[in-house]
Amino acid sequence: RYRDAGAGDKMDPFAEQEEWENYQSGKANLKYGSKDKKQASADYQYVFEDGVDFIKESIMDGVNYKDEMPSEDPDDSIAKTALHKLKEERKTLPIYPYREQLLQAVQDHQVLVIVGETGSGKTTQIPQYLHEAGYTKRGQVGCTQPRRVAAMSVAARVSQEMGVKLGHEVGYSIRFEDCTSEKTIMKYMTDGMLLREFLSEPDLASYSVIMVDEAHERTLSTDILFGLVKDISRFRKDLKLLISSATLDAEKFSDYFDSAPIFKIPGRRYPVEIHFTTAPEADYIDAAIVTVLQIHVTQPPGDILVFLTGQEEIETIDEILKHRTRGLGTKIAELIICPIYANLPTELQAKIFEPTPEGARKVVLATNIAETSLTIDGIKYVVDPGFCKIKSFNPRTGMESLLVNPISKASAMQRAGRSGRTGPGKCFRLYTAYNFQNDLDDNAVPEIQRTNLANVVLTLKSLGINDLVNFDFMDPPPSEALLKALEQLYALNALNSRGELTKTGRRMAEFPLDPMLSKMIVASEKYKCSEEVYNSWKETNYSTQWCYENYIQVRSMKRARDIRDQLEGLLERVEIEPTSNLSDLDAVKKAITSGFFHHSAKLQKTGAYKTVKNPQTVYIHPSSGLAEVLPRWVIYHELVLTTKEYMRQVIELKPEWLIEIAPHFYQMKDVEDAAATKKLPRGKGRAAD
Ligand code: CDP
Ligand code: MG
Repeated sequence: RYRDAGAGDKMDPFAEQEEWENYQSGKANLKYGSKDKKQASADYQYVFEDGVDFIKESIMDGVNYKDEMPSEDPDDSIAKTALHKLKEERKTLPIYPYREQLLQAVQDHQVLVIVGETGSGKTTQIPQYLHEAGYTKRGQVGCTQPRRVAAMSVAARVSQEMGVKLGHEVGYSIRFEDCTSEKTIMKYMTDGMLLREFLSEPDLASYSVIMVDEAHERTLSTDILFGLVKDISRFRKDLKLLISSATLDAEKFSDYFDSAPIFKIPGRRYPVEIHFTTAPEADYIDAAIVTVLQIHVTQPPGDILVFLTGQEEIETIDEILKHRTRGLGTKIAELIICPIYANLPTELQAKIFEPTPEGARKVVLATNIAETSLTIDGIKYVVDPGFCKIKSFNPRTGMESLLVNPISKASAMQRAGRSGRTGPGKCFRLYTAYNFQNDLDDNAVPEIQRTNLANVVLTLKSLGINDLVNFDFMDPPPSEALLKALEQLYALNALNSRGELTKTGRRMAEFPLDPMLSKMIVASEKYKCSEEVYNSWKETNYSTQWCYENYIQVRSMKRARDIRDQLEGLLERVEIEPTSNLSDLDAVKKAITSGFFHHSAKLQKTGAYKTVKNPQTVYIHPSSGLAEVLPRWVIYHELVLTTKEYMRQVIELKPEWLIEIAPHFYQMKDVEDAAATKKLPRGKGRAAD
């Protein structure tokens, strides 16, 4: 009952009897985790016995540009350098024919909204055009990206195209990593980093052009940047502002920037066949795996892009796909699996851009990052389960959690479009046409309307912007969320009762962290434990063995070390001495509590926990070392909703600390079972620091 994913032709992937026998006799060496061979074999058959049924629904508009594409040059010999080839490639991008017009428009207008489909060359080409036209003589060209991976990979690409070393003329700056130098004239950075640059350079004097890229993503930092760059463009008439976006409804940006002109780069797109499932899929992970295998064994050559919600999902599918293709033998083409997500180590990120070897097929397992920020050439098939992870914030409870949500129609169209960049493509949606029409919103809600604003409020306050209610937001955040943020900052002692920044708040603003984390670090001064974290690793001279013995990945510790080095530098800036007292572990916990006292939870008889303020049932994440211990009181770092509402990163807490550390936030009744055994100090006012 195996179906061709596309045309509906039947085909047996195991027509080759030998392959099948090999597999059944175990010669194919299928091993997977703790499952025995029989179990694995059952899994495997399942893949091909129960395929996912699709119906072809529509064909996206598209123009066949095949004839216009440059033909392969037969004389392309070794004489041509890679650089030359890259230069030639630049000329084939959809934006290239509009180079002069675009530069003219930039010259004529201070603010320009640029719209062009993903892959047309906005991010990699525009800063180079500006450089070639001389803008870098007056200052840097800065280009912001919502995602770190995009900033890094685009900077790498541009430095290649220009034949310079990454970090020299072309660099990038992302949180905890500054890959720029004195020489840098073109700088790619996350939107959050540019926001932080306002702290040290409120007029962005070192820039001649700021390009706010991927504006349609409407991240929190991008939205705030809009307000700030709009403001400085009024008194810095020499500063050029480019707002670029992949979606067509750019009028909103134009309206916001006082009717700035819109420059449209005509797209180049091939037709995309859209397939929907005939019935809803109960398990989209499973359906995605099955669909990838269906495509692999039945469809003509071309790479596959699968959209997933996060690292965990990607790793799961990566493993299952590896396991399921291992037994396929040589009759079926090799399937190269390439994951891509924000925390993937840089050296592995490059793999997704490597051309697929002849005869093989690549499957890219990506988060939303591949929707518009990154373009991977050669994708012909897109598998879209229809979900993404978004942060959502409940202003009533002050709780923020990462939730898997259905994507918007706009996202679904973007995702489908990724398959039709270099030739006609196919998109397999793992949901029904009915779901698409009726259950998906048209557009995603901007982050500013669904997030905790404490960090932004702190940054704006430290920029001297006190009147947040009248700040020029494109879409103002709910006033409830703004109020909650002020309340939280007040509780953390970052603001005083008049809403002004305190000394603690000023120090906290120096750290590129959530206010709770920066408060924890600032509080480490009081508890004399600013050095603690990782001393025992340091004592072993950062040994791999130590990580192994403590079940920690070396890579994570190395990254922790880099981040720590940076934070240490910032401690110096806010005049906090590194101090350490190894005999007092409670001090560390108290410092954490100083930042995270909002996140306390108490064990219930049922084995579940209840959050102390705004009671809600939560559980310790099974990956936690405390999941078996179940301490009576805990502080958690974040809530993640998967099958249950889980607390991730948990420490044990003594309830009396809540009263000691946050007497303004907790009363005796909140911690009453502790009060029965201990006399607690009573307090008034705010955190005593
Ligand atoms: O920004 P936009 O989506 O308009 O396009 P872009 O990111 O400038 O990408 C233009 C082209 O550069 C893509 O089609 C890729 O062929 C290439 N590129 C690449 O090979 N590697 C990267 N890291 C980024 C872009
Ligand atoms: Mg781009």
